Amino acid sequence: MKILCRKKVALDSRKDAIVIPIYKNIPSIRAITGKKIDDELRTILDSNYFNFEEKEIRSFYVELNKKLKKIYLVNTPKEVEYPEVYRELGAKIAGILNDDKIYSISLIAFEDIYNEKKSNASTSAFMEGIMFSLYSFDRYKTKKAHHTLEEVEIITNMTRLKSYIDANHAEWNDIFKYVNIAKDLVNTPPNDLTPAGFADYVVASAHPSLKVTVLDEHEIAERGMNLITAVGKGSGNPPRFVHIVYNGATDTTNNVAIVGKGVTFDSGGTNLKPSGSLERMKDDMSGAAAVFAVVNLIASQNLPVNINAYLPMVENTIGGKATRPGDIVKSFSGKTVEILNTDAEGRLILADALYMATQTDPEIIIDIATLTGACLVALGDQCAGLFSNRKFLSKNISDISSEVGEDLWELPLYENYAAKLKSKNADLQNMASGAKNAGAIIAALFLKEFVENYPWIHLDIAGTAFLEEKHPVFGNQASGFGVRLIYQFIKRYYVK
Ligand code: BES
Ligand code: MN
Ligand code: ZN
Repeated sequence: MKILCRKKVALDSRKDAIVIPIYKNIPSIRAITGKKIDDELRTILDSNYFNFEEKEIRSFYVELNKKLKKIYLVNTPKEVEYPEVYRELGAKIAGILNDDKIYSISLIAFEDIYNEKKSNASTSAFMEGIMFSLYSFDRYKTKKAHHTLEEVEIITNMTRLKSYIDANHAEWNDIFKYVNIAKDLVNTPPNDLTPAGFADYVVASAHPSLKVTVLDEHEIAERGMNLITAVGKGSGNPPRFVHIVYNGATDTTNNVAIVGKGVTFDSGGTNLKPSGSLERMKDDMSGAAAVFAVVNLIASQNLPVNINAYLPMVENTIGGKATRPGDIVKSFSGKTVEILNTDAEGRLILADALYMATQTDPEIIIDIATLTGACLVALGDQCAGLFSNRKFLSKNISDISSEVGEDLWELPLYENYAAKLKSKNADLQNMASGAKNAGAIIAALFLKEFVENYPWIHLDIAGTAFLEEKHPVFGNQASGFGVRLIYQFIKRYYVK
């Protein structure tokens, strides 16, 4: 998307159409539109053409320089606490502009309409809504989706806002690009995105300032990451362990570790999932896709921070060579694990990857995983589960969460429940015996056994990664959840 910012009036627009945010009893906005447009706007508003209904968008024509120019009016709520509503408005107008075959628009900044002197949040959220809603996954369709909208010129009289947009529009485009890459990876069918295929893609497309190391199944076994081996060994598509390093800071204390679950397909293994639960299991690498997008974003913005990203990639299949319930495996950390259920595979591969992450003495470890159906049952698809062994971390990431519109709800790491993970025959078992209660918490407690009390955040995105029902901004199927959340979190708290 081409994004520009201009400080003159809308009257001079050379774009196909002009988009103007309005609200009930809006005073004259002549200063930003120019007289002619404001006069016509008054006529329209005095008629009953515009009703000021929620998210109402209507258009009319004005003659400018002897040509008819289409003007879209967007009803916008004044002073909303969260930018979500601007994203939804942006997504809505993008749909209308594409239906109308509009290529370029001039957009009057929300901040000018509100005369809002401090925040820059509304126009940038509106732009996010426009950009995210343009995503479509049509690689496997012979007839491709097509959108016309390519260019947005933001018009403002505020020097502060103009410098903000000039400084940030390249970042917006990068965010847009990498969120879309994460979505594409998740949407790609599991026959085309195997562990080796995913690892190859990472190597081929990583930002030039990233260093990527790939361990194949033999190297994984040699290192003693036996839980990853155990999960992957039933499949003809063997596992990979991808380590991505970004060194952006000279100070080695700014050291963040990120781990993403990369199960390219989760059949459940020997504990085979039933029909109905299998069809979406290509999404079980959403955590790894999000982490890949985050490190690329950080590298593309040259942020002064050091990142170690770990992506364990496996296919969890049924078969003669697959792990059996009751198998006992020695993890990379040395703790032994009795695998009671092969469908609780995410925590197994994450255990080895998390323990690997502790080896670089990080300031924080963040993991993101489509970990439990229990989390989806508890929170649905609009909100991910948040766990942390530090109060300040859950507070900090929750603050970012409301700004980026990727909701989190914190669940507790009750120590009492950890007793359910004690095994009769090994140090740990990978699920609670008996009742299936508190599944998301039990899974998080299992992971906690492998982070050695390092400051740690665990995000369970089983519900939010993949949308079975269409979301107005994030669409259908892969949502890209977690990319902006983790990126902005690291940017705010670990870039010094
Ligand atoms: N990948 C699933 C979790 C999942 C379920 C993600 C539904 C998205 C939608 C995970 O590997 C899994 O199967 N978890 C089991 C754990 C159980 C066997 C303890 C589950 O949640 O049922
Ligand atoms: Mn599973
Ligand atoms: Zn899984």
